[in-house]
Amino acid sequence: MNTDYGTFYGVGVGPGDPELLTLRAHRLLGAVDVICYPACKPGASSYAFRVVKELIDPTRQSVKGLVFPMSRDLSALKPIWRQSAGAIVEELRAGKSVAFITEGDPMLYSTFLHVYQVIAEEQPGIAVEIVPGVSSISAGAAAGRMAIAQGEQRIAIIPATYHAEQIRATLERFDTVVLMKVGSVFDRVLDVLEEMGLADKALLFSRVGARKGFVTREVRAWRGRPLGYLTTLMVVKDPNPSFEPEAGAEERE
Ligand SMILES: C[S@@+](CC[C@H](N)C(=O)[O-])C[C@H]1O[C@@H](n2cnc3c(N)ncnc32)[C@H](O)[C@@H]1O
Repeated sequence: MNTDYGTFYGVGVGPGDPELLTLRAHRLLGAVDVICYPACKPGASSYAFRVVKELIDPTRQSVKGLVFPMSRDLSALKPIWRQSAGAIVEELRAGKSVAFITEGDPMLYSTFLHVYQVIAEEQPGIAVEIVPGVSSISAGAAAGRMAIAQGEQRIAIIPATYHAEQIRATLERFDTVVLMKVGSVFDRVLDVLEEMGLADKALLFSRVGARKGFVTREVRAWRGRPLGYLTTLMVVKDPNPSFEPEAGAEERE
């Protein structure tokens, strides 16, 4: 481990309610020298930053927005990830501790992973600590009173931007399917649910945990209406599974 460098922290800040920050995240964010957050354009704030901004002391700590544009063009994105990782390494090299914050959990579809992978590959001597956060999936399930899985049920988590055929195939194979990033493709996903008779089995949640967030079982009411990026759909095919052992299960034990 390179002890001249500061430690790099990947910190999950939870789904939006500051009360859902972990104690560790709370402590670290008040202690690190630099807090970095992902922003969609230069100068923009971020959802994750708004969750933690009250914890930061600007007289002691500096804050950096790092731009991560919304794009699927990997050839354009990779140099940007390297550039952001470079800006973080510069601070670490100066001996500063740096926290990169992400909404929800940092190990689930997060921007943190892009910079972490570059730093882990190119600067393996840097100490990294990852602080888990409450994922939007856990928060949505709790707010909607809908279990993610029970007993022997199987879960799939996929981006809703998959092709309709792939979404259909996933819904056929799994008991619960969580569709992330559903905001921009909601009507197309709702069509699949209607075809499969599953629209009544879905829970839609947006900015769950934040003041303007919502959670609803009335998913049809959202057809044709704008939904933000921080929106998730969870389909639970059997919310009340039987816990009866399968025939022959006792003999197998
Ligand atoms: C880049 S992923 C980040 C996931 C995040 N790391 C987590 O653990 O929830 C972004 C997607 O997460 C979901 N998401 C994140 N925060 C959310 C929230 N507060 N309410 C509902 N969905 C959210 C949405 O599906 C969104 O498109």
